[in-house]
Amino acid sequence: MKKFIIEGGRPLSGEVLVSGAKNSTVALIPAAILADSPVVLEAVPTIDDVDSLISILRDFNVSADFQEHVLRIDPSQMENVPMPEGKIQSLRASYYFMGALLAKYGEGTVGLPGGCSLGPRPIDLHIKGFEALGAKIESENGAIHFSTPNGLTGADIYLDVVSVGATINIMLAAVKAKGQTVIDNAAREPEIIDVATLLNKMGANIKGVGTSTIRIEGVDHLHGVSHAIIPDRIEAGTYLTAAALVGQGVYVKNVIFEHIEGLVAKMGEMGVKMDVYEDKIYVHPQADDLEMVNIKTAAYPGFATDLQQPITPLLITAHGSGVIEDTIYPKRVNHVPELQRMGADIHVVDDTIHIKGPKSLTGTKVTASDLRAGACLINAGLAASGRTDLYGAEHILRGYDNICEKLQKLGAKIDLVDIDD
Ligand code: UD1
Repeated sequence: MKKFIIEGGRPLSGEVLVSGAKNSTVALIPAAILADSPVVLEAVPTIDDVDSLISILRDFNVSADFQEHVLRIDPSQMENVPMPEGKIQSLRASYYFMGALLAKYGEGTVGLPGGCSLGPRPIDLHIKGFEALGAKIESENGAIHFSTPNGLTGADIYLDVVSVGATINIMLAAVKAKGQTVIDNAAREPEIIDVATLLNKMGANIKGVGTSTIRIEGVDHLHGVSHAIIPDRIEAGTYLTAAALVGQGVYVKNVIFEHIEGLVAKMGEMGVKMDVYEDKIYVHPQADDLEMVNIKTAAYPGFATDLQQPITPLLITAHGSGVIEDTIYPKRVNHVPELQRMGADIHVVDDTIHIKGPKSLTGTKVTASDLRAGACLINAGLAASGRTDLYGAEHILRGYDNICEKLQKLGAKIDLVDIDD
C-alpha cells in the first residue's frame, strides 16, 4: 500500500508531456489478440492497468514484451484459457476480452470486471449486443460464459444508452462476424476511433467511427501491425487544471486540442488564460480572480465525466456559486467529503455537487476512492497550504503514467511512499 505526500502551494512551471491514452490502451491490448501475428503498440503508458493486462495476456499464453512505451504482443500461440476469477476481475476494461474472445474463438469465460467504483456500472448493453450477434451468454458466480452454437452473424444493434465500453466490445465481437453489423447510438469518443483504426489496419472493415452509426463488415482474417496510441485527453486535462490552479506558466505537450475542447472552453469561461498550439497548450500564470462556472458532463464531445473530479479544486478557488451535474455517473461524488475536510465549501444534494468559492484549501489526510477522485485530490493537495497525505494511491497508479515524476519535474513537492514508511 502506498500514499502520496504533497507539500502544497509550490508553483508549477515548465512543461509536461502527456502519455498515450489509458482508455485506448486497455481496449487495444485485448484487440491485439485478434491478429494471427505480432501487434506492436507504441506510446503505451506505464500504468498498473497495462501491467495487469500484460499479466492476463501471459495467462492466455500470449507473449508480451513491454519496453520504453512499446508493447509487442504475439498472439500466435494463444490458448483460450477460461478466466472466471482472479486478476481478470481486477480491472473493468478486462471485459474487452469478452468481445475479442467471441470474435477469435466464438467462446470463452471471463470474470465480471472490477475497476473504479462510480456507482452502478452495468454491462447489459454489451451482453445485448453479443446476443444480437448470436452469442449464448450464461452468468455464474460472477463470471460470464459465452458460446456461439451457430457462429456470429452481423446484426443491427441499437444502444439504449451511449456507452464507450459497449460500443468497443460489440465492435470487437463483430469484426469477424458473417455479414454486416450496424451499431446505432454508438459512442463517439476518440478512444473508439483509435481502436477502430488499429482493427482496420489489422484488416477489419469498420466505417463510421466518430459518428453515432458504426458499420462493420465481417472479415475472415486479421494480421499484425504497428500502431501509435493517441494522447490521453484526461491526463492532459488533469495537468491543465493543475497548471491553472498553481501554475506559473506551464506547457502541456502532446495534446489533441479537439479532444478536450469542452474542458478548455470551461476553463476559458472561468478566466484561465491559455494559448492553444498545434499539439500543446500553454497555461498562463494563475489568476486569483477566476469566475465560477456550472458543469454538466455528457458523452463525447460533451464535458467528460472523467474530468469533473480533476477540475473541482479549480472551481473551489473561483468566485461565486456553481454546480456540477454528472449525467453519466451521478454517484461519482466520493471526492466531495475529502474536499470538505480540506476546507472546501462543497456538498451534494440530489446527486448534484454544489460549490461556493473562493475557498483556500488546507492539507490533511485524505483518501482516493477511485482513479479520477485521486486526480482531484492531487490537484487539491498541490493547491493546499501545508501537507496532504493522499491514501489510495493504487487507484491513481492504475491510470496515470509516472504522475509523481511528471509533477516533480514541474516543481511540485510530491512523493510516493510505502504506507509503513
Ligand atoms: C468508459 C471509460 C471511463 C469513462 C466512461 C464514460 C474506459 C476503460 N473507461 O467507461 O473512464 O468514465 O467511459 O465516459 O474506457 N451503461 C449501461 N449499460 C451498459 C454499459 C453502460 O447502462 O451495458 C451506462 C453506464 O452506467 C453509464 C453510461 O452507460 O451511465 C456510460 O458508461 P460507459 O460509456 O459504458 O462507461 P465505461 O465504458 O464503463
